[in-house]
Amino acid sequence: MPQTQLETYITENENRFLEDLKGWLRIPSISTLPEHAGDIRRAAEYAADQLRHIGFEHVEVIATQGHPLVYGDCLKAAGKPTLLIYGHYDVQPVDPVELWESPPFEPTVRNGNLYCRGACDDKGQTMLVFKALEALMTVNGTLPVNVRILVEGEEEAGGESVAHYVTTYPERLKCDAAFICDTHMPSKDLPALISGLRGITYTEVEVRGAKGDLHSGSYGGVAPNPLHALAIIISRLKDAEGHIHIPGLYDRLRKPTEAEKKFWEEDPLHMGKSLLEEMGVSQFSGEEEYPPLERIWARPTLEVHGIAGGFVGEGAKTVIPAVGKAKISLRLPADLKSDEVFTLFERAVNSYAPPGVQVTVRNIHGGEGVLVSADSPAVAAAMAALKGTYGREPVFIREGGSIPIAALFSEVLNVPVVLMGFGLPDDNLHAPNEKYSLDQFFKGIRTVASFLQKLGS
Ligand code: BES
Ligand code: MN
Ligand code: MN
Repeated sequence: MPQTQLETYITENENRFLEDLKGWLRIPSISTLPEHAGDIRRAAEYAADQLRHIGFEHVEVIATQGHPLVYGDCLKAAGKPTLLIYGHYDVQPVDPVELWESPPFEPTVRNGNLYCRGACDDKGQTMLVFKALEALMTVNGTLPVNVRILVEGEEEAGGESVAHYVTTYPERLKCDAAFICDTHMPSKDLPALISGLRGITYTEVEVRGAKGDLHSGSYGGVAPNPLHALAIIISRLKDAEGHIHIPGLYDRLRKPTEAEKKFWEEDPLHMGKSLLEEMGVSQFSGEEEYPPLERIWARPTLEVHGIAGGFVGEGAKTVIPAVGKAKISLRLPADLKSDEVFTLFERAVNSYAPPGVQVTVRNIHGGEGVLVSADSPAVAAAMAALKGTYGREPVFIREGGSIPIAALFSEVLNVPVVLMGFGLPDDNLHAPNEKYSLDQFFKGIRTVASFLQKLGS
């Protein structure tokens, strides 16, 4: 392998790699806001152009019911395994916009970090994979393995279209392993592969009372109050000790192994301390009897994301609102299935609603969790590649967030999934001042190139 040539190519092109990422980042491809549909389209085309530029074939922007998918392949390594690579070009909304130190869609470098919405999640991480492929292809004239790429534009909005595509056309995605570059390492010196992700059920609970807003003096004492009803429902769903009261929820939860329990309790990487620092709080909330790592990785959780309704302006207004809404989601260890949990959740919400209000529970989106086995050639190759670039044995740990496509690749395509990403805990995903470490971006390119070489050798 002409390793030094590859290294030289990457070093000489770092600036252009970064410029290519910046061009993609300038497109505000926010998938949940309909007014950005044109930007979504442009971001998809941008990815397709990158793939064509690398020399990929069958490059296509595939229309779906929702946002387009981008596909491309390079299947010329006869006798070598086929790797399916996934990324997403959509990003989260940017509000509260006043908290950004530079405009959210103007990529800006400060202190070795690139700030922009999507800098890490997931344009930065997807672009580094493109650039690893470009480097291998340019230097060697070919790739060490066969590669299919699938990039979606709806991940942050539930990923329905890609799920439909994977389940309808599994033969178009035939592969021996899948690789998703959309996760984190615990720190810049500690490389990681992710061994498990939680699933999610995302809901909206709408509560209606009177036919219109009411004067709280004339009707207070006899009128139903949807916001108070919501407060009652929410407080009964999860108590002050962090226990969720949804009958049946915990029934299917698998008991952890002794080794898992030991790791969570002993926390040899001192991740608990970092969690407190990242959050800027002095103590943990939640289920005291479980170690923090178990709580973020392997326990179901229920969180309220927002409550809307009534009066929240300056001053006072004496009103009993006619309607209130809450966004509530549950994170689910892989044993719990999203749709089943929604049914249990809906039943529980209805049973907790006080008399006199009408409750509607909507299933906004859902996705399954996944657990990844450590024994596959793909995971071994990724481990070895990380060790090579970081000079340290990688850890194999879980992540509490969700990437629903991982479970689909595992279950529908029936292949091992490599969850290897280069994000850092302080990258501010989904928050103001999202960033990506430039060092991580460039190390990521080298690691992914090496991963493919190892997989092909
Ligand atoms: N890349 C994240 C998942 C993630 C979060 C990885 C934190 C590592 C650390 C992904 O884009 C994401 O945000 N997923 C959503 C999924 C949901 C919208 C279905 C999530 O976890 O909230
Ligand atoms: Mn992501
Ligand atoms: Mn995300």
